[in-house]
Amino acid sequence: MRIEGSVVLVTGANRGIGRALLTGFLERGAARVYAAVRRPAELERLAAEEPGRVIPLALDLMDPETVTAAAEAAPDVTVLVNNAATHGVGHLLDMDFGLVEQVLSTNVLGTLRVMRAFAPVVEANGGGAVVNVISVGAFGGTPALGGYPASKAALLSMTQAVRQDLAPRGISVHAVFPGPVDTAMMDYVIGHEPTFGDFPRATPDEVARATLDGLQAGEQDIFPDPFALEIQAEWLADPKALAERIAGIT
Ligand SMILES: NC(=O)c1ccc[n+]([C@@H]2O[C@H](COP(=O)([O-])OP(=O)(O)OC[C@H]3O[C@@H](n4cnc5c(N)ncnc54)[C@H](OP(=O)(O)O)[C@@H]3O)[C@@H](O)[C@H]2O)c1
Repeated sequence: MRIEGSVVLVTGANRGIGRALLTGFLERGAARVYAAVRRPAELERLAAEEPGRVIPLALDLMDPETVTAAAEAAPDVTVLVNNAATHGVGHLLDMDFGLVEQVLSTNVLGTLRVMRAFAPVVEANGGGAVVNVISVGAFGGTPALGGYPASKAALLSMTQAVRQDLAPRGISVHAVFPGPVDTAMMDYVIGHEPTFGDFPRATPDEVARATLDGLQAGEQDIFPDPFALEIQAEWLADPKALAERIAGIT
C-alpha cells in the first residue's frame, strides 16, 4: 500500500494514537489528512501550520448526520483510519448499563457507520485501504474493562467480514492490535484499575510508526509494539490459553 500521495481520514485525530497517526501520514508524504474529530476548531492551529494538508472535519461516531456530512466534505479519501473509540471500566454484570451501551454503540456501530459512509468514497477514488485500530483486548474478555473488550472483539469480527466484501472493490482492510499505549485512555484505566500500570506501555508515536510500516508492507494484521507482538505469538500458539490469561488480568 502506497502512502505517498494518498488522501487519508483519521477519526479521533486530535490526541493519542490518532494524532500520532496523523503526523505519521504527513511525514510519509500523504497529500492530505482529514482530521475527523468532535471539535474541529481545536485543530485550526495545526491546519494553519500545514495549509491544505491538514483539514479538520466535524465527526462524531454517535451522530449519523456528521458522518454523512464528513463523507460529502471529503470526497477524495483513499485511506480511512478508524481510530476513535471510547471506554468505560466496570464489571459487565453490575456496572451502569448505559455505559456498556455507549461503549458498544460507539466502538462497534459508530465505526461501522463510518465504514459504510466511506467505503463508496474510497471505491470511487479507485480503491485504497481501511485501517481499523482494534486492541489486543479483542483476544480475551478482561472482566474489569466493561464493554470495551467485547466492543473490540466485535470490531475484529466486523473487520474480517468487511475485508471479504471490500477486496473485490479494490479496498484492503487492515486490523491494528496495540498493547497498552501511553494515552489518556490508558491513564483512565490505570486510575481505576492500578493493575494495568504493571504492563509496559508503548508511545503513540511508536504505535503509529509500526502501523504505517505494516500498512506499507500490506500486512492485514498489525501488532505494533513489543507487548502486542508477545500477544500475537501466544494467539498463534494457543488462543484459548491467551484468552484465559487476558481474562485473568483483574
Ligand atoms: N491506549 C491504549 O492502551 C490502547 C490500546 C489498544 C488499542 N487502543 C485503541 O487505540 C485507539 C485510540 O485510543 P487512544 O489510546 O489514543 O485514546 P484517547 O487518547 O482516549 O483518544 C480517543 C479518541 O477517540 C475520540 N472519540 C471518542 N469517542 C468519540 C466519538 N463518539 N466520536 C468521535 N471521536 C470520538 C476522542 O475524541 P475526544 O477528544 O473528542 O474525546 C479521541 O480523539 C482506540 O481505538 C483505542 O481503543 C488504545
